[in-house]
Amino acid sequence: MTHILAIDQGTTSSRAILFDAGLRVVSSAQHEFPQHYPFSGWVEHDASDLWVTVAGVARAAVEKAGLHAGDIAAIGITNQRETTLLWDRRTGQPLHRAIVWQDRRTAGLCDRLRAEGHEPMIAARTGLLLDPYFSGSKLKWLLDNIDGARARARRGELAFGTVDSWLIWNLTGGRVHATDATNAARTLLYNIAENRWDAEICALFDIPMPLLPEVRDCAADFGMARADLFGREIPILGVAGDQQAATVGQACFQPGMMKSTYGTGCFALLNTGEEMVASKNRLLSTIAYRLEGRTTYALEGSIFIAGAVVQWLRDGLGLIRSAAETQGLAEAADPGQELVLVPAFTGLGAPYWRPDCRGAVFGLTRNSGPAELARAALESVGFQTRDLWEAMRADWPGAAAGVLRVDGGMAASGWTMQFLADILGAPVDRPRVTETTALGAGYLAGLQAGLCPPPGDFARDWALERRFEPAMAEGERETRYGRWKQAVKATMGVA
Ligand code: G3P
Repeated sequence: MTHILAIDQGTTSSRAILFDAGLRVVSSAQHEFPQHYPFSGWVEHDASDLWVTVAGVARAAVEKAGLHAGDIAAIGITNQRETTLLWDRRTGQPLHRAIVWQDRRTAGLCDRLRAEGHEPMIAARTGLLLDPYFSGSKLKWLLDNIDGARARARRGELAFGTVDSWLIWNLTGGRVHATDATNAARTLLYNIAENRWDAEICALFDIPMPLLPEVRDCAADFGMARADLFGREIPILGVAGDQQAATVGQACFQPGMMKSTYGTGCFALLNTGEEMVASKNRLLSTIAYRLEGRTTYALEGSIFIAGAVVQWLRDGLGLIRSAAETQGLAEAADPGQELVLVPAFTGLGAPYWRPDCRGAVFGLTRNSGPAELARAALESVGFQTRDLWEAMRADWPGAAAGVLRVDGGMAASGWTMQFLADILGAPVDRPRVTETTALGAGYLAGLQAGLCPPPGDFARDWALERRFEPAMAEGERETRYGRWKQAVKATMGVA
């Protein structure tokens, strides 16, 4: 048994990657699934799509590699976080579509609870803010809107889970209802300081506690995947939310190390060690990973639109045919123009937390064209990361001397990464392996299986592909960042 199967259930697709014992990619498979937008601001996934695509890609990756279940020592799971599911424990049937992390339907409820003064207590215990992004208000919405659900939940007939729990439930044929500490940390119901579900917060949301899964370490026994899926049972030994898995995959094991993943959105995590740092700058405190019962914390900055801004150039405006074209356009843009694009398409995340804002472009002239717009789109990703970087440095002195490790689709753009280094005034490191999310999940499972070395050794194997050194003069950097701050202020002003 020499291989590890990593399942990465993301927002737009399910992927499976098979690693050998040296954590080299052997094969992979990917399947996109439909997004459902029943009303403006609502985003749902069909729970069965999530499971069926995962089962399909997992089997496909194993088959592609010409391997059998007997070659696989363990399964690791990583997943889109916060997305909320509710199902019947007896039949395994979901009671509703999954409510996706991007869904804003509970903004009013969050506003009301904030106005009632509950946010400081919730932030102190969960590290999060009262925002519809997290699972708690979504689960309340399901219980409020599905006939009889709350009474059934009280009787212990229903199960709540984030996507990891839903996959574990299905993989084990309903034998295990569990989650890991990182996914629990995103629910708004989990006390991360004490590592337990918080009865008072559950009562505030009117959430019966029999609904909740058992919380385990990230490298732990999560049960056996059914024999009928792969030909024989395979143990599930690693679980982490996707951004936390990327933190592990980037080997950010030391306090002060920071990674930023550029997918649809951008999520930056700064390891703060055993200290749960309370943010004074509207960042989140979260669990980076929990190994052998020891919790490592992180500060997190969550930006909702990063790669999605390039998709908008392609699908919304039709300016490009493929994402790779943005780089050429940005290089050709008129350096004399000062376009600033604030991509608040679904509101602003950290550190502003303004779900009501919408996008804006500043500085348009008669000469502004696709090149200038493309450059402004790529630059917006750098500016937003600088916002997080500033907030992290203000929150925690350990963040002062930093290098940023990057991954995700947009990290492939050299132009964007150079701009990022320029606007941060700090080096940006791109690793050789940019599949860091799956790598992190695979590593956690391999660690528990006894196949992978301890974190210190894994960190030594982390290999740099390219370092981007800042090359912009400080005066220009600060002028340009100042222009961005003005643009954000103006955007928030009109919302
Ligand atoms: O918090 C949301 C995040 O986990 C989603 O990540 O990569 O599926 O867009 P991704």
